[in-house]
Amino acid sequence: MPTSDSRAQVVAVALGDRAYDVHVGAGVRDRLGSVMPAGARHVAIITQAGVGWTVDSGLDQSVFTVADGEKAKSLAEVERLCRAMSRAGFTRSDVIVAVGGGVVTDLAGFVAAVYHRGIRYVSVATTLLAQVDAAVGGKTGVNLPEGKNLVGAFWHPHAVLCDTETLATLPPRELRSGRGELAKYHFLTGGDLDALDLDERIAAAVRIKSEVVATDEREGGRRAILNYGHTLAHAIETAGRYDLRHGEAVAVGLVYAAEVALRLGRIDEARAAAHRRVVSGYGLPDRLPAVLDDDDELLALFRRDKKAVDGLTLVLDSDRGVELVAGVPEKILREALAAVR
Ligand code: GLY
Repeated sequence: MPTSDSRAQVVAVALGDRAYDVHVGAGVRDRLGSVMPAGARHVAIITQAGVGWTVDSGLDQSVFTVADGEKAKSLAEVERLCRAMSRAGFTRSDVIVAVGGGVVTDLAGFVAAVYHRGIRYVSVATTLLAQVDAAVGGKTGVNLPEGKNLVGAFWHPHAVLCDTETLATLPPRELRSGRGELAKYHFLTGGDLDALDLDERIAAAVRIKSEVVATDEREGGRRAILNYGHTLAHAIETAGRYDLRHGEAVAVGLVYAAEVALRLGRIDEARAAAHRRVVSGYGLPDRLPAVLDDDDELLALFRRDKKAVDGLTLVLDSDRGVELVAGVPEKILREALAAVR
């Protein structure tokens, strides 16, 4: 084992016969050979040109490079990859290795879910966002022109390697976006992250997410708390008139959710201030861009949120922790929007 990964942490995702380990630390991509599933002979490495990291599975491996950016998450790309794997002779006992950020782990995980009705895959997550969220938890999928992640499957990886060494070469904006998802974990149960260094924070986030996923694998209820801060974030992204990355929008969404919870008497001012402190501590925005000045538009987008099955539904903090709250009054949502302008 290389010395660079000797401080790596291993977090178990307890899902019975689909349990797997998430390895977090500098250099853990070098563990790929040791986490290869038994019986695999041929490895399909799925990656993007911009990722810039290579891996060695120790097995016969073929590299499939997909388009850079979000456009790689398409059904056309799924078909292209499945056809290329079929022509290359991949069988049900072979394995896919995703190397990249959330786009790659979502796409490659979905290809693994459907190729030959499901084969094993390992994710080597190379962005902060993928390490603390996308690569862990088994949500895989692609986008349709009608919306993001509308086609997908729950399909768990065989193992996940979150190599923190890869973060050193991430574009600053990409790293900043990952910090928005990391900020969310400060407010979930077990989120005492302040005293930890970055690698430890990532491992703590993975531990929190793993615990939630293990109790509600298919988002029947509690898993929705992983979408803390996401109601306003998704509305900002869908309204689309301002260039905020996902994690940056989540940061504003966290501060907004705290303002809503404060007005509902669920949290006190000190807790709302803690949200602003964490978000600004990560150098992230805590205010809505001025151009998003139409409350009616944002509320209409809140109503279309996947969580909104029973009126306006948000994930909100309380002294019991973060939970899903249905029927939030529109007046409170409007007042809280004013508070983040
Ligand atoms: N990204 C939220 C989840 O995995 O449930």
